[in-house]
Amino acid sequence: MKLKNRIAIVTGAGRGIGYAIAEKLAQEGAVVVVSDISEESAKRAVEQIKEQGYQAVPFVGDSADYVIVGKMFHDVIKRFSKIDIIVNNAGINRDGMLHKMDLKQWSDVISVDLTGVFYCTQQAAKVMREAGYGRIINISSASMNGNIGQANYAAAKAGVIGLTKTAAKELAKKGVTANAICPGFIETEMTKSIPEKAWDIMVSKIPMGFVGKPAEVANLAAFLASDEASYITGEVINVGGGFKL
Ligand code: NAI
Repeated sequence: MKLKNRIAIVTGAGRGIGYAIAEKLAQEGAVVVVSDISEESAKRAVEQIKEQGYQAVPFVGDSADYVIVGKMFHDVIKRFSKIDIIVNNAGINRDGMLHKMDLKQWSDVISVDLTGVFYCTQQAAKVMREAGYGRIINISSASMNGNIGQANYAAAKAGVIGLTKTAAKELAKKGVTANAICPGFIETEMTKSIPEKAWDIMVSKIPMGFVGKPAEVANLAAFLASDEASYITGEVINVGGGFKL
């Protein structure tokens, strides 16, 4: 168990990649705060982790709300006295071609996928630099290199890289690492709605020839969260079967 006695927060952990990360961290011994905007998903995820004999608690709230994020960190510190690991995973997409994208599509995605990551990273930085220990793991995307129909999402995910690299530099001497993971094409609810034709085109671009599973992203997150990754910071790591945009 790599993460015994560690306290971890995973945002957007009610399902998909976030759930897989929460489950893996719990299996490695961490107590995991399963944070999600959906109460039903958060509670179900906690039950699933507990049924396996591991430790998890729910936190229901919007990771793009400054006040709620402050409350989440306050509540977790009050209950567990520390936060060792934050995985900023909550994310949405509202795709559309640049010339047709409305302001709401733009601002909703920037708000959840970038500003929310800033709120949580900032709170984590405060707690972790005091503690002299911490692991910040931000979920970006292969789309951060730019992707047709994803100007909002690509901008937010590229922003996450700049944020992560800055956090890594600012916190490097405080025992805190910050790294980003760029999943490629992973089978979740987010990708489920992609039309069959577009799906097949996507798969044809993956050198390994198949779509990834959330657990494949979770394995890297658990490694980066562990003491084994003590000398790795400011890195951007792809998990995409060789896929790159
Ligand atoms: P998903 O849509 O299956 O799950 C996202 C979870 O986040 C849901 O439980 C949802 O309720 C929660 N959530 C959404 N907005 C929230 C908010 N404001 N506050 C708190 N929770 C919120 O998505 P998936 O596929 O699991 O994606 C997870 C992360 O991985 C996202 O950041 C996504 O951008 C990223 N990603 C996913 C890829 C894929 O192929 N599935 C590829 C690259 C990156």
